[in-house]
Amino acid sequence: MKKTLLLLIILSFGYSYSQVIYGNSLNQIDSINSPDGSLRLETSINDGKVFYSLYKNGKLIIKDSKLGIISDKFNLSQQLHLKSSNKNTHNEVWTQVWGEQKEITNSYNELVFALGANNTKFEMKIHFRLFNDGLGFRYDIAQGTKNISFNIMDEVTEFNFVEDSESWWIPAYAYRRYEFLYANTLISEIHRDKYSELRENPGDPRIGPEAVQTPFTVQRDDGITIAIHEANLANYSSMTLKADGTSSMECDLIPWSDGIKVRTSTPMVSPWRTIIVGNNPSEITMSTLTLNLNEPNVIKDTSWIKPGKYIGVWWEMIGTNQSSWGSGPYHGATTDKVMKYIDFGSKYGFDGLLVEGWNTGWDENWCCTGEGENFDFYHPHPDFNDVKVAAYAKEKGIRIVGHHETGTQIDNYESQLDSAFSYCQQKGIRVVKTGYVNDGSQNIKRYDKEGNIHKEWHHGQYMVEHFRKVLETSAKYEVGIVVHEPIKDTGLRRTYPNMLSREGARGQEFNGFMPKDWNNKPNHTTILPFTRLLSSPMDYTPGIFNLKDYRYNSNDDRTINTSHHIPSTIAKELALYIVIYAPVQMAADLPEHYEGHPAFQFILDVPTDWEYTTTLNGEIGEYITIARKDINSNDWYLGSITNEDSRQIEIDLSFLDSDRRYNATIYKDPINGGWESKPEQVEIIQQVFNKNDKYQIVLPSGGGQAIRFSPVD
Ligand code: NOJ
Ligand code: CA
Repeated sequence: MKKTLLLLIILSFGYSYSQVIYGNSLNQIDSINSPDGSLRLETSINDGKVFYSLYKNGKLIIKDSKLGIISDKFNLSQQLHLKSSNKNTHNEVWTQVWGEQKEITNSYNELVFALGANNTKFEMKIHFRLFNDGLGFRYDIAQGTKNISFNIMDEVTEFNFVEDSESWWIPAYAYRRYEFLYANTLISEIHRDKYSELRENPGDPRIGPEAVQTPFTVQRDDGITIAIHEANLANYSSMTLKADGTSSMECDLIPWSDGIKVRTSTPMVSPWRTIIVGNNPSEITMSTLTLNLNEPNVIKDTSWIKPGKYIGVWWEMIGTNQSSWGSGPYHGATTDKVMKYIDFGSKYGFDGLLVEGWNTGWDENWCCTGEGENFDFYHPHPDFNDVKVAAYAKEKGIRIVGHHETGTQIDNYESQLDSAFSYCQQKGIRVVKTGYVNDGSQNIKRYDKEGNIHKEWHHGQYMVEHFRKVLETSAKYEVGIVVHEPIKDTGLRRTYPNMLSREGARGQEFNGFMPKDWNNKPNHTTILPFTRLLSSPMDYTPGIFNLKDYRYNSNDDRTINTSHHIPSTIAKELALYIVIYAPVQMAADLPEHYEGHPAFQFILDVPTDWEYTTTLNGEIGEYITIARKDINSNDWYLGSITNEDSRQIEIDLSFLDSDRRYNATIYKDPINGGWESKPEQVEIIQQVFNKNDKYQIVLPSGGGQAIRFSPVD
């Protein structure tokens, strides 16, 4: 009886306490606010378990979410007691080697507490950093200074959303890595059947739990937008989010083939778990938290890392179907063909020319089952005279962009890594595009010491470590990389600025090889900025001008396959150079579709390194407008795109610098145009503006608009 009374008193005290200072739990252990006070973190310990809650503008958005790690040697998720708690403040500005903006402010309040559990000598610290744009936290496990190995069996981190909001997601544990269209459902409705009903058949059989990839984005009814992701993923496995039919989600680490989640040892720090928060979708696109939670640049001399634009012997294989990667009469990467591309690239001042199919291995069974062992990364195909091409490229002032398709034969690639990147250095290659095509779920071969084969997931610890190995080796030989079929990015470009770009989402290629019903829909690129692009630059490969009737039925059958039509317009393709950031951007179409085309000028002008970026407006899956200032001039650029709906958007030009008038070159769709009716018509007009002006952007269905603002005086 007495006990009940005491409990009631405690409960009512806890409740009234929450009215005063947010707190909603019985045993609050500590709290911090973001530097601007808009976010508040509260932590609590209850019955030996540790929880956190997050508030935005005084509203509880993530509630009582559990923390902890369970391994084969300890359980640091229960029977926990607090040993110490510390707070710090940090404030600095650092400069990017390249990026969406030159300077980044790293300002946060920090809370670190140390926890112990009964019956174990292992100790767990949890570091929380609260920025104006979100929260990051990580686990840190040690046993004094000892080095003790252990296997993580489960990370119990929860993300319990207070509201069952709309969410945008792609499935985890699915056969095509991150290359899916996004589903848009309530959090509680996340389910693989829902996904296939809404989007596409995720392939059979589906194995693994019901989970989604990160960045995972939700928008609440009040507009507050939240994205869960991670930062500095290293020596660990990727975090996916398990859904259970409610608005609560739990960290689900991709396992090794034997079920262990992470193989590690003390002292161990986990990647940062991140919760990006904004008042609206536009704000989260400008978040810098992921980069701030990575280690500073470790490459001392970065003079060889250069942003730029490239063309490629590529669309003629993946898009138009006129050439092949492999040997035979249609082989694309022949010496003569590549030299013609060099002439075109050099004439228009491109920095790079991607050459795919330059090496041997393409004639084997490389796609898309994880078989085929024979890719060679430093011997050219007999049709391709690498010495002659390297000399010609040098003479013409353009660099070859190398290509390493691995087919996920990881052992084969790793055994050649040093030779492959040293070959690049000798041939003047400064950027390599890598590739990991394998359309199986848990299907990447790993050979153990005895030579037995184990099948691993694409984004488990085995591959996280592989990708890091490639990044470090390429840096040693002064080569930057652009990864296709990558692991997701978590901000590594801060530490390794040679980590230039990656795919990691459905890119333009799906418009190339997929027929109409299965290609990217007009809304796809209006979802990417609020989801995938939160993690890093993307090699989307925009710039297709020939949007209809571009694809042959096959290499041999050169009649047009009418089931292909890219759901875009030329003006939208141009706008994508602004909307989708990448330090190296491709002009993806064939030279003959650019030569003489007036809209090509925008591709030639647009920079890939920026002083400053601002997202002017946007709604997820509907539209977005971004303005960026060139790092090397006083020019501003603007890109605006829409989904299937036509719309008019008023733009306030107050982002322009004061005391200047600008001549704007506007690339727009005709008013009655759009992706279905007149995708290949583009109007180019000139207009003068200053920062007090407003401008009406009119976007037809599936269209876009791109503007270059150059100072008049
Ligand atoms: C898939 C990549 O995304 C594409 O760009 C590349 O051309 C092919 N694999 C071949 O490597
Ligand atoms: Ca791909």
